[in-house]
Amino acid sequence: MAGETNVTYRRGMDHTTQQAEGGSATALVRLAGVNKHFGDLHVLQDIDLSVARGEVVVVIGPSGSGKSTLCRAINRLETIDDGVIELDGHRLPEEGKALAQLRADVGMVFQSFNLFAHKTILENVTLGPIKVRGMKSSEAKELAMGLLERVGVESQAHKMPAQLSGGQQQRVAIARALAMQPKVMLFDEPTSALDPEMINEVLDVMVGLAKDGMTMIVVTHEMGFARKAADRVVFMADGQIVEEAEPEVFFTNPRSERAQEFLSKILTH
Ligand SMILES: Nc1ncnc2c1ncn2[C@@H]1O[C@H](COP(=O)(O)OP(=O)(O)OP(=O)(O)O)[C@@H](O)[C@H]1O
Ligand SMILES: [Mg+2]
Repeated sequence: MAGETNVTYRRGMDHTTQQAEGGSATALVRLAGVNKHFGDLHVLQDIDLSVARGEVVVVIGPSGSGKSTLCRAINRLETIDDGVIELDGHRLPEEGKALAQLRADVGMVFQSFNLFAHKTILENVTLGPIKVRGMKSSEAKELAMGLLERVGVESQAHKMPAQLSGGQQQRVAIARALAMQPKVMLFDEPTSALDPEMINEVLDVMVGLAKDGMTMIVVTHEMGFARKAADRVVFMADGQIVEEAEPEVFFTNPRSERAQEFLSKILTH
């Protein structure tokens, strides 16, 4: 029975149905009734979102709709005013060791690459496993080299970040997040700061990850990625989840006026 729930759940039903059927019990990431204000601005409004293990969810929506805040809340880089956020059945810890552990379980890749500028590529990837996971240096190096190979930059291991292209740096950022062996990966517009010719090399790595079964929440307007890799597209506007559907359904037949308007804008560019 639990297995059955899992299967239907992964195929991207709307979240109300999931909850009605108890699907949320199998969620790896679960947000329920989440609200967040920045002063007068109600930036997250009653957000309910469950992401199953192995599911790939693309979050899309206009600038200022709260997509980054949503990601940051899941990683607890932002606090929330009320509601619940759970990772693998546990509420996000407030502070201390448990919070550090949570951050290790949630890999995050941002728009700007955020590599440590004064460390080599290899050191960038080994640092977390050594410091946070307590891994031996030799083991961490082996893990890191494997990951750098997976993202196609193993030949750059001994260079400094500034010597790499944007696309290479972003692939290192992905390897660095993976080195912590996270349960879920969050991507916040990982390709929007890249020159066009570098976008695909990063998206290809992400498609590979998705195929390997990584649970992913990806803020992106790259519809090709969504079509190839996403189980579900979540459309946000003004701090709310307005609509969610499988990519093909969402892109060809958006139900809400907000989504129609948004898609007509990004499609004509
Ligand atoms: N630390 C902050 N203090 C005050 N307001 C903030 C803060 N961070 C974000 N906001 C505001 O919250 C709203 C949502 O911001 P957020 O960055 O989550 O949007 P977004 O959907 O990621 O937008 P974009 O597509 O431009 O990245 C915006 O109006 C933004 O100005
Ligand atoms: Mg953003």
